[in-house]
Amino acid sequence: MSFQPTSHFDPGLNLFKTETMAAHLTPREPVLPDPGKRNILITSALPYVNNVPHLGNIIGSVLSADTFARYSRARGFNSLYIGSTDEYGTTIEARALVENCTPQELCDKYYAIHAAVYKWFNISFDIFGRTTTPLQTEITQDIFLKLKDNGFLEERMTTQLYCEQHHSFLADRFVEGECPDCGYVDARGDLCGKLLQSLELIRPRCKVDGSVPVTKETKHIFLELDKLQPEVEAFFQESAVKGAWSSNGTSITAAWLKEGLQPRSITRDLKWGTPVPTSLEGYEEKVIYSWFDACIGYVSITANYTDQWEKWWRSPDDVQLYQFMGKDNVVYHSIIFSATKIGTHEPWTKFHHLSTTDYLT
Ligand code: MF3
Repeated sequence: MSFQPTSHFDPGLNLFKTETMAAHLTPREPVLPDPGKRNILITSALPYVNNVPHLGNIIGSVLSADTFARYSRARGFNSLYIGSTDEYGTTIEARALVENCTPQELCDKYYAIHAAVYKWFNISFDIFGRTTTPLQTEITQDIFLKLKDNGFLEERMTTQLYCEQHHSFLADRFVEGECPDCGYVDARGDLCGKLLQSLELIRPRCKVDGSVPVTKETKHIFLELDKLQPEVEAFFQESAVKGAWSSNGTSITAAWLKEGLQPRSITRDLKWGTPVPTSLEGYEEKVIYSWFDACIGYVSITANYTDQWEKWWRSPDDVQLYQFMGKDNVVYHSIIFSATKIGTHEPWTKFHHLSTTDYLT
């Protein structure tokens, strides 16, 4: 979709000069939970900052969250509604390559467009932040190290494709080759009708420079979700009923738990991401997997809004958390983010309600 501002379009000129939308939307005094009152924390999924927002972004999570935020405020509930762009990971690196700029330049360009479009739609975010901030690094690394101390992280060796031409491990989306299933010659490492791993492709080639990659061993940190399964399951059983999760959110989560949770890698051989804590040796060239820290974005955005962010995020008895998202985001929130919080052994505010949108038809 091309971006065609109409005559109604009012980007708010200052917006492009400020670091975040908060300058427009943040009241002088931050909204904080008031113990004894009903305190409602609302989030909509953080859109990748590699495109102009499309109807799916608005319908998928923003409009429903905004409607609920307006309702919640009108009922007199103490409410905070958070949004942000999602700025790390391969989706951003890939787009920066196409646009021939740095990931940071790409984020800056599209952050301004995202913020302007949501303002144009009059979305009532209390803060519209970014995930590429020092607080994101601080909070993510803190959580990562707590998981390590509590015995939920494990180092494993993996085999991946490496491009000797541009000296880089290749994420699935950076590999093309022949699909072993249907024979399609330009299949991509992360998608060809079914989910493909780049190592399965026949005659793989690097999407960046066309050269033939080699296989190479590389170590990564895995989050041992299997060890956390009983607690995630207990949380899910209770919360899905109490908070009346939408039915697709419930069924997607239940299906994953039924299958049995497996350890998942939470580091990547990439440059653009939250750095792995320096106390881990041999991870200087690696970053934390963007889906591990994307959900932590909700927390760091709140921390950028108020230094009293823990009143929202570490108050399970005083705060009800309502999260809105498209269905492909469910497991990252209901399973991985929940397991992450549980594994820290700290009193995090977890979901009350999970609202999940299906395909836009
Ligand atoms: N960027 C993801 C997407 O567009 C959503 C991330 S939601 C988050 O699918 F909160 F986890 F960041």
